[in-house]
Parts: sequence; structure tokens; C-alpha cells
Amino acid sequence: MSHMKLRQGIIDTCLEMNHSGLNQGTSGNVSHRIPGGMLITPTSLPYAQMKPADIVAMDFDGTYHGRRLPSSEWRFHRDILKSRTDANVVLHTHSVYCTTLATHELGIPSFHYMVAVAGGTDIRCSDYACFGTQELSDTALKALEDRTACLLGHHGLIVLADTFEKALWRAHEVETLAKMYVHALAIGEPPRLSDAEMAQVIEQMRRMSYGQTPDLDSVADRPHAAKEIRASSKPAAKTTARTKAKLKARPKVKARR
Ligand code: 13P
Repeated sequence: MSHMKLRQGIIDTCLEMNHSGLNQGTSGNVSHRIPGGMLITPTSLPYAQMKPADIVAMDFDGTYHGRRLPSSEWRFHRDILKSRTDANVVLHTHSVYCTTLATHELGIPSFHYMVAVAGGTDIRCSDYACFGTQELSDTALKALEDRTACLLGHHGLIVLADTFEKALWRAHEVETLAKMYVHALAIGEPPRLSDAEMAQVIEQMRRMSYGQTPDLDSVADRPHAAKEIRASSKPAAKTTARTKAKLKARPKVKARR
């Protein structure tokens, strides 16, 4: 069977999704991109019983291969993976706090800077549409424009990512934000960060997640590795020409006076 690792990755992601409390029962579904299509969880099969052969391979034209029927949400998985070439994984959950907000048709505004983990100044909530329909796929895609997460009206959460690990991480972050927002709402509608403040957060995240670029604070005031770490992190004896060129091209940090 092909794509064995990805099939197992989908099952492990589903199990983790339920063990960690992000999801319950057979709600939710997970897909991963393959050339010309995707691998997706079968419909209604308890995750603990799922075997790699149960994962369904589906071409982008809707043709599926395997012994099981694909998830009822194959349309939005297919449409997202087809149009969002920045994502390899689509994860859908009925996580409690995201769904709580979605039942009120509320998204997550910029009440906390971490809202930027979904790529923008807010996390939208889509209009309601019946599960498994093309209408749901269309409205989800709209809510996901320039974002890597959205809530689904009266339904749940969708996150996009390039790996399974990143998808689980993002889903946890969004669920935590939803929980915080629900708690904050109990005191009253919290004030929002401005677009300018959110733009600064997005730029800071972009710089820091690449790990190379200085953060937005003074370039001179950068973290530097302790001596013993620097000594042990010499390039290995067999440095390739490519690595040498890369090391040479790195920006030089000016010595501090
Ligand atoms: P499936 O079991 O068909 O994937 O459906 C679960 C679900 O969450 C529908 O939105």
C-alpha cells in the first residue's frame, strides 16, 4: 500500500485529537495532500479501530479508492487542498470552545495577539451550511481567505497546516483562544488590538519563526549562544560546498563595543 507513513500519520493525528480533548467520538476528520489528490479519514469509523487500509485515497475529481467511504466532509477537504497550495493538512474538529462561539455565529476578534497564529487580525466564523454539502465547502473557503483557521457556523473548527504536528498545534492554540474569549466575554466584550498592533505582531511572528531574522527590537540586543554551545556547534568535519556557501552568505553580526 502506498503512502503508508501518511496513512499512519492521519490515524495518529485523529487519536491525539481525541486524547487531548480537542475532539470527541467520531466527530472531526483529517486529510493530507498526495499528488493529484488526498488521503482522508473514512466516514464514521471510531479512530481507535482505524487501520492504515481504512484511510481513503481520493483524486481531486472525487474518484476514491479503498474499502471505505470517504469522510462526509470530503468536499471541503478536497476544495481546500486544491486551492490552498500553502497547506498539506486539513484538520476538522468539534472542539468545545470553538464550537461554543460558532453556535453564536461569533468568530475570534483581535482580543489577544495570538489570534495572529491563523495568519491575520481575526479568525472568522463561516455562515451555517449543512455538513457534507458543497455550500459548506464554499462558505468555509470564504472564511479561510488569507487565514489558516476558521470556525464553522453552528458546527466546529477547521485548521490548515503543512504538517500534522503543526495542524494539531494550531488547533490547540485556536481552541485555547476560543476558551479565553468565552471567559473574557463573561466580564464583558474585551477591547481589541488595533490593526496596526496586529500588523506588528504578524511581522514579529514572521521574523521570529524564521529564527534568523532579528526581531523588531534593536538588532544589537539579540540573544547569543553561551560560549560552550558556540564551541560545540562548529560545523561538522564533512561540511558540504552548499553548506559552506550558506555559512559564508550569513549576515555578519557587528561586535559590540
Ligand atoms: P465523518 O465521520 O463523515 O468524517 O463526519 C464527521 C464530522 O465531523 C462531520 O462534520
